[in-house]
Amino acid sequence: MHRVSKYRFVFYSSCSVVFATLLLVPIVQPANAASERLFAANVGHLVDARLDPLVSPGSCASHVHSVFGNALFGADITPQMLLDPTGDWKDIKGKYNTTTSELIPNLSMYWAPSMYIVKDGIYHLVPSFARPYYRITLRSDGDTSRINAFPPFLRMIVGDASRKEAWTSEDIDRDDIRWKLRTINRNSTNYLQHGDWSYLMNNTDLANIDEVELKLRFPECLAVNSCTGDPITKSEDWRSHAAYISGWDRHRQSFCPITHPYQIPMLDLEVRYKLDPMRELLGVDHVNDVSNWILSSGDKSGAGGHADFVNGWPTELMQNMIQNCTDAMSRGGRECYLDQFEINGRANKKVPYHGKVPREKVDNLTNLLTAADECVVTSQTI
Ligand SMILES: *[C@@H]1O[C@H](CO)[C@@H](O)[C@H](O)[C@H]1NC(C)=O
Ligand SMILES: *[C@@H]1O[C@H](CO)[C@@H](O)[C@H](O)[C@H]1NC(C)=O
Ligand SMILES: *[C@@H]1O[C@H](CO)[C@@H](O)[C@H](O)[C@H]1NC(C)=O
Ligand SMILES: *[C@@H]1O[C@H](CO)[C@@H](O)[C@H](O)[C@H]1NC(C)=O
Ligand SMILES: *[C@@H]1O[C@H](CO)[C@@H](O)[C@H](O)[C@H]1NC(C)=O
Ligand SMILES: *[C@@H]1O[C@H](CO)[C@@H](O)[C@H](O)[C@H]1NC(C)=O
Repeated sequence: MHRVSKYRFVFYSSCSVVFATLLLVPIVQPANAASERLFAANVGHLVDARLDPLVSPGSCASHVHSVFGNALFGADITPQMLLDPTGDWKDIKGKYNTTTSELIPNLSMYWAPSMYIVKDGIYHLVPSFARPYYRITLRSDGDTSRINAFPPFLRMIVGDASRKEAWTSEDIDRDDIRWKLRTINRNSTNYLQHGDWSYLMNNTDLANIDEVELKLRFPECLAVNSCTGDPITKSEDWRSHAAYISGWDRHRQSFCPITHPYQIPMLDLEVRYKLDPMRELLGVDHVNDVSNWILSSGDKSGAGGHADFVNGWPTELMQNMIQNCTDAMSRGGRECYLDQFEINGRANKKVPYHGKVPREKVDNLTNLLTAADECVVTSQTI
């Protein structure tokens, strides 16, 4: 499905704010900018379930998602779930099981479509985990003062979950999402040419890598309420309130477009789907043949890759990271809060999940689950 127009209109009733965004594509790293890594760490897998609390609140989603992070994830989410349970985020005692993130005070949630490999008519679920990078785009002077922490309960979706066909060269109006073979082609891939699986057909590198990676770059600029100046944390499509950086505007001293002036850190999310266990289960040649792959949304092209993010970072912690951390270490002798954590960064943490989910199996299916399948979110845990 293509977007109908290059303009997205969003209406905010409170102050009758209307804005239109001209999507500036292709997305380019602006000149005069340096991107700096704040932090990266694996986030373990929480659950696979046909839920999407943003798109289908309180009920079942149209397809299965693989979920990472905050263990309170469920059909409904509330701002309280994203806040520290005791009100003191610095005290992490007894909170190990609140999230699959190693960094316990961060109660964010992520989810992305589950991936399946089909063999003899059976859909086999591919295990996954996430590896988010947080970066900030700075001017060469390194001034961090223009970057704001994620506002509480910020919610965003990138990608088009309804897309089921490979991209064409015309489809430039889209989010910065690509498929990678981890480090093998990290520097040689981009969203315009590697936004689906077609380039992986008969690709000899595929046999040499244990995971295929969905890499999703989230926008770094938010719209603001014109009355209060507060950042806007949601929109009807969960996307229009956010925009990619458009270039350095010397006059406004800003990287962000005038419609979305509020700069935040960039979430560069990797969702890693593990091919090695599937090779053991289904055979190497079968798994290396991309024509056997399908996303839970019924997409056999990979172009429908998407992800949802709900912010659960304590604001104070993120402000400290922006000002004082570079790659989770102190910046120039200042106190980076993360110095206090012993974080391995490569662990895939597991925690018990007690949420309510649709009572249905999600692995070894004869058909993918769709919106047409009857579904009740039970009060029973699985
Ligand atoms: C914050 O939490 C989210 C979800 O739990 C996770 O994906 C992300 O990696 C975490 N960030 C850090 C720095 O731990
Ligand atoms: C976390 O869950 C594990 C497994 O159920 C349990 O053994 C452990 O005690 C829990 N940790 C905390 C701090 O509750
Ligand atoms: C990819 O780019 C990074 C940073 O730009 C560089 O450090 C690395 O050596 C490059 N890797 C390859 C395989 O070219
Ligand atoms: C991949 O290889 C197979 C067998 O050699 C061939 O039939 C097919 O056309 C190739 N596909 C692509 C996309 O190159
Ligand atoms: C950054 O670190 C300094 C100490 O070096 C501290 O005073 C300051 O509050 C920190 N910034 C934030 C936003 O926490
Ligand atoms: C799915 O089928 C495979 C192969 O028969 C089996 O190893 C695996 O345990 C099954 N998974 C579930 C969740 O039933």
